Amino acid sequence: MQKHVQAIRGMHDILPQQNRYWQFLEDKVTSVLRSYSYERIRMPIVEKTELFVRTIGEVTDIVEKEMYTFEDRNGDSLTLRPEGTASCVRACIENGLIHNQVRRLWYSGPMFRHERPQKGRYRQFNQIGVETFGMDGPDIDAELILMSARIWRELGLNDLTLLINSLGTSEERAKYRTHLVRYMSDHVNDLDDDSKKRLSSNPLRILDSKNPQMQDIIERAPRLMDHLGSDSLEHFNGLKSILDEANIQYKVEPRLVRGLDYYDKTVFEWVTESLGAQGTVCAGGRYDQLVEQLGGRPTTAAGFALGLERLITLLEDNNVEVPSVDPVIYLAMLGESAVNRGLLISETLRNRFSINIRVNCGGGSFKSQLKRADKSGARLALVLGDDEVANGNIGVKFLREDKPQQSVELSRLEDYLMDQLSS
Ligand code: HAM
Repeated sequence: MQKHVQAIRGMHDILPQQNRYWQFLEDKVTSVLRSYSYERIRMPIVEKTELFVRTIGEVTDIVEKEMYTFEDRNGDSLTLRPEGTASCVRACIENGLIHNQVRRLWYSGPMFRHERPQKGRYRQFNQIGVETFGMDGPDIDAELILMSARIWRELGLNDLTLLINSLGTSEERAKYRTHLVRYMSDHVNDLDDDSKKRLSSNPLRILDSKNPQMQDIIERAPRLMDHLGSDSLEHFNGLKSILDEANIQYKVEPRLVRGLDYYDKTVFEWVTESLGAQGTVCAGGRYDQLVEQLGGRPTTAAGFALGLERLITLLEDNNVEVPSVDPVIYLAMLGESAVNRGLLISETLRNRFSINIRVNCGGGSFKSQLKRADKSGARLALVLGDDEVANGNIGVKFLREDKPQQSVELSRLEDYLMDQLSS
């Protein structure tokens, strides 16, 4: 026998038994997004490499070392999207979605980053992302945060902490940069290789370093917050006061700079201690320059993305109760007339009750069919043989209750099930 081909490291199948959680998560999130009037957009998974280089930033981990980039048959350089914001902005400009209008959009799907796989960090992972355009006040930043807080409430997750910061404008960051570079240059011997490299290319990224040896230096570095202009400060204070009034707890984290270069002013992350090193389950912020940078008319923007795998792990770890996706009824049938009649009965029951009914296709003895029925998680098994069809009745077996099997006239089956299913 040949060795079977295995999945790529860091890329996982999401198996049917995990679907309960995925379904719950996606249903809850999308219903919250709808209740805030966000509209869905679907973008391609592959884009021109240049799109990500120009938006995420040349000197970022993603662009420097994590992109799945390849040449297609025409010799064009393409990249599997490492995130959704860049594609969404491109799609909006290209399709005239944000010209002189306000937009609230969301998308969902896989993203690809060639990171070192570990718990909570994958090479293919799923995000639900939200992007808003044309609203420049802190009100929309607050809406994004309130909406994410509502998502946690709906999911039954209550140990998430909100970190916020302001990165100011690009001019403010440029001024701050000189202070930061001076400080870091004074400590150059204590910097790790990555940070030394970034000192000249993208010094703000040093603040994002996770290297434990760097933490002390970073802690004592000058703070961007102390170099913000009045407009940025006012924006940040505006956000904080809405959050205060809405009773949303937050921590101002001056070191929160994010791993992508497009942010301006507000940035935020929702983090948990319970996932180890990969504790950020939602991250985002404002990116007021990006639309113009990609060739659109100047349009302010803000958004966030949820990491679905991390949220699923949290739901599982917290034993959050999620609705069953098991069938309610399992229909066992044996014999030619029973099979023909059984399929029609199941159609009628679906019409009447719109419930999950699994029909035993593929034959097998009643014994093995009932074993499958039990394993399926169904509440009831309907048992139909040729004799039952001839006599005009059907067996009802209670799989989760201590009740004797019943024989019910087929003409009364719907009413009978109505009583059983509502009890
Ligand atoms: P990000 O921080 O790069 O931001 O990713 C957002 C979230 O995706 C992270 O907080 C995390 O939960 C999840 N995530 C990222 N990388 C991985 C990975 N390798 N494995 C598993 N989960 C991961 C963005 O992508 C921005 N586009 C967010 C945004 C939208 N900002 C404005 N609008």
